[in-house]
Amino acid sequence: MYKIAVIAGDGTGPEVIAEAVKVIKAAADKFHFKLNLVEFDFGGERYKRTGETLPDSSIEELRKFDAILLGAIGQPDVPPGILEKGILLKLRFALDQYINLRPVRLYPGVETPIKNKGPEDIDFVVVRENTGDAYTGVGGFTMKGTPQEVAVQSAVYSRFQVDRCLKYAFEYARKYGKKARGRGENNTLALCGKTNVLTYIYDLWERAFHEMGRKEYPDIKREYYHVDATCMWFVKNPEWFDVIVTGNMFGDIITDLGAMIQGGMGIAAGGNINPEGVSMFEPIGGSAPKYTGKGVINPLAAICAAQMMLSNLGEEKAADAIEKAVMYVTANKLKSLAAGKMGYSTSEVGDLVVERVAE
Ligand code: IPM
Ligand code: MN
Repeated sequence: MYKIAVIAGDGTGPEVIAEAVKVIKAAADKFHFKLNLVEFDFGGERYKRTGETLPDSSIEELRKFDAILLGAIGQPDVPPGILEKGILLKLRFALDQYINLRPVRLYPGVETPIKNKGPEDIDFVVVRENTGDAYTGVGGFTMKGTPQEVAVQSAVYSRFQVDRCLKYAFEYARKYGKKARGRGENNTLALCGKTNVLTYIYDLWERAFHEMGRKEYPDIKREYYHVDATCMWFVKNPEWFDVIVTGNMFGDIITDLGAMIQGGMGIAAGGNINPEGVSMFEPIGGSAPKYTGKGVINPLAAICAAQMMLSNLGEEKAADAIEKAVMYVTANKLKSLAAGKMGYSTSEVGDLVVERVAE
């Protein structure tokens, strides 16, 4: 029995989460485990009604769950930062979900904007550090609103944060790298940084990376790429990548690029992982206000997030079945992954996956 907190959230969040829930319920029936789903109403609507984002008491409540499934947070009529910092980032930080795991896999039948590349070329994972960097919010203004105004926002990393993230990434590469999956000659971990400019932060990352690799993971091939070059190679030679580890800010940016080359926000999912605590899984596309309530949004990203959640809970068979079902649907059913162009409604896509999982 797994106790899952469900935060459907804003915009299209509730629509896609409904489909993800349908799918994990089908998987639970098929693979004989039980789910206790508890809904929470955090998000823009509640904020507008009550002025409350995420009370500290709910964080304590969420700690008692096995996992959290999140739809989307964000409303066009709430100023930027309030809901993001007040809910999403607060959850990540308070629950110390120090890994943001974002697979970039092109599923069969999915169109990528990259010419002449297929599923065998686009198959890597980004391990994004999820608690530090410019996200810690250290900084401030002086003389705000005057012509002399100064704004500072510092990127911060401790050796502790870097080491625990690297450890997760090396372990991940050993277990799920291309060699481990029979897809290549090596399990490779690439550090994505900017050692030529961010000579403090990424110097720390680079030293820690090679020290840990040399001492504890000699079996894993190490590579280094500057972040700008990473963007270039994602487009030109995505097949070079296996597991990539990077800081929070670069990870945010390169995973949006990653999402696009794997077919877009309709399919991209991620996990905010605390390996020793409560993890949270989400489609990475946001609340998509433009498509809200129309039944046209693609639920596969949310379904893939739920799939990652089950895998993280140790339900590997169920997770595999969901992934295969999604691959079947992308290969044989959907005309496109884009909202409104799938050839099916949101709930019909959910049904297609459920049918295949239940088979
Ligand atoms: C993401 C999002 C968030 C981030 C925002 C909404 C705070 O872009 O999950 O990638 O920057 O981490
Ligand atoms: Mn982002």
